[in-house]
Amino acid sequence: MSVRGLEKIYDSSGRRVRALAGVDLDVPRGAFFAIMGASGSGKSTLLHLVGGLTRPTNGQVLVEGHDLAGLSDRARTVFRRRRMGIIFQDYNLLPTLTARENVALPMLLEGTSLAACEQRVNELLAAVHLSERAHHRPDALSGGEQQRVAIARALLNDPAIVLADEPTGNLDSKQSVEIWALLRRFASEQGKTILMVTHEAAGAAFADRVIVLKDGRVVGTLAPQGSLDAALVATGYQQLAG
Ligand SMILES: Nc1ncnc2c1ncn2[C@@H]1O[C@H](COP(=O)(O)OP(=O)(O)O)[C@@H](O)[C@H]1O
Ligand SMILES: [Mg+2]
Repeated sequence: MSVRGLEKIYDSSGRRVRALAGVDLDVPRGAFFAIMGASGSGKSTLLHLVGGLTRPTNGQVLVEGHDLAGLSDRARTVFRRRRMGIIFQDYNLLPTLTARENVALPMLLEGTSLAACEQRVNELLAAVHLSERAHHRPDALSGGEQQRVAIARALLNDPAIVLADEPTGNLDSKQSVEIWALLRRFASEQGKTILMVTHEAAGAAFADRVIVLKDGRVVGTLAPQGSLDAALVATGYQQLAG
């Protein structure tokens, strides 16, 4: 995945905000990148553009040879459904569906029966350590468990890229570590390309690279050497973003 000269200007009710001011980024296949930056620095905007949820004002988003900015809204939506897995801070599960139905939902919406995708759903629930919870509804699951259901759902279509916007924002530190470790494993073992926005140095330390944004620009990159590096990430981040 790469991004070239990416610029996003929001122009709502006469107030013009340049949320991204020319971002270049290359994320190799199978790499896990974290994005850090103060509130309002453009992190979510960058993720939304990479996910094809919005269109850039200028620049390119290249995913598997497609420039998302050049696709029609309809084509971008189809591409996103097929090739992107997106994880949000608030899980976005449907409260009336069980864990396995929530995981299967993208395929159910495309007309596949639950029986036809059952094996894949079971594999994914096992991968996120939730086999025992398959028949529980979200309100019977902890926040960390709900987010793991959302991760399994994001992986259902075997996406090219997994995008996670502050996935541990509502979780305690033990549950957060489980989420980061899962994302780390999906990148290392399954070659998933992962882009995760986080405030937490401890989470960013799981990534291969940490991209630091400030005022819509990349102001630096950190390269953690593993999860023991949280303090170094925190120091490096302060120097770049401060
Ligand atoms: N839909 C929108 N309309 C207008 N301004 C927006 C919109 N989304 C984000 N912004 C503005 O763009 C800037 C970057 O926002 P965002 O990407 O959400 O930052 P972050 O995720 O780093 O907190 C902020 O100034 C924010 O207020
Ligand atoms: Mg945000």
